[in-house]
Amino acid sequence: MLLDRFQTPLLLAPMEGITDRVFRRLVCGLGGVGGACTEFIRVTVAPVPRRVIARELGESVPGVPVAAQLMAAEPTHVAASAANSTAAGASWIDLNFGCPAPTVFGHCAGSALLADPGRLAAIVRAARSGTALPVSAKVRAGINDPARLEDCVLAAAEAGAALVTIHGRLRRQSYAEPATWAWIARAVAALRPLGVAVCGNGSIECAADATRMRAETGCDLVMVGRAALADPWIFRQIAGGPPATPAEVAAFARAYHVAVATDAGQGTATAGHARALSKLKQWVKYLRAGDLFRDDPDGRQQLLRCPDAAIILADLDRRADDRASQPA
Ligand SMILES: Cc1cc2nc3c(=O)[nH]c(=O)nc-3n(C[C@H](O)[C@H](O)[C@H](O)COP(=O)(O)O)c2cc1C
Repeated sequence: MLLDRFQTPLLLAPMEGITDRVFRRLVCGLGGVGGACTEFIRVTVAPVPRRVIARELGESVPGVPVAAQLMAAEPTHVAASAANSTAAGASWIDLNFGCPAPTVFGHCAGSALLADPGRLAAIVRAARSGTALPVSAKVRAGINDPARLEDCVLAAAEAGAALVTIHGRLRRQSYAEPATWAWIARAVAALRPLGVAVCGNGSIECAADATRMRAETGCDLVMVGRAALADPWIFRQIAGGPPATPAEVAAFARAYHVAVATDAGQGTATAGHARALSKLKQWVKYLRAGDLFRDDPDGRQQLLRCPDAAIILADLDRRADDRASQPA
């Protein structure tokens, strides 16, 4: 059973452009993460090769299974891509039926499939036919309204999905408005009789929200997205551990910078360093853990303009030292 593979009921959400193999491995190593997923991998005119999927999966943290997330507009090439994902070492296959991006939607992939539960089911069946691994589906509550929510989650389940993640927003809401957890509860009510697990997603802002989502909706798992960028230790905290210390946050920034700079496949060392600087800043933009900018909200903007990673990292160290010597 898929659920039994997770040591905690907490999944790190896939976030394209952010939770790549480097960031994901570091976050999974902090504790509390039950499982994770690659960013979406598009299946278009041919099966996705095994080496592409292996590259997306990267190195995993022992005990934290990682799924390959495939996104297709129709079933052709999905079975072969699922087979290649299996060969590449994926722990399970996740299918994306939630992406709201106009380019994806325009190609009838991602959340566009919510208008066509029959085709959504055919894609799930195709994935199942290509692998012995469990298959899950990640959906939104609907495109413009949640009227077909039950049709979509039941279509996925009846086609053989072992787990359905429901993001409690509509496509038209993108990521802007608060998620509606009542829609997650509707998915739970629809799927419980079939014994299919539900993962709730959307608007987890702090550790207590995860417990509340499970209590209010009955979902089996909780998936955390942007709050895990702001505070990658949120999983450890939800699982009963301590919040991040300022020193841990500064050390994570250093580890992340080094890991990106030395990640294989960047081309030249210069390209690796440029990418590491840009990824470090991307993370600093979200960062909330450790409250490093508590007394200096403008400091973050200054760091984002800084052209030198060494200066940013030293600044974060200094902030961590200052915070450690102050009352909470
Ligand atoms: C920048 C960004 C990229 C995302 N990329 C993906 C993706 O590749 N696959 C996917 O299924 N969802 C993707 N999502 C959606 C998240 O997985 C998640 O469903 C969403 O952020 C809601 O959770 P949250 O409110 O906890 O952030 C992305 C979200 C963001 C903000």
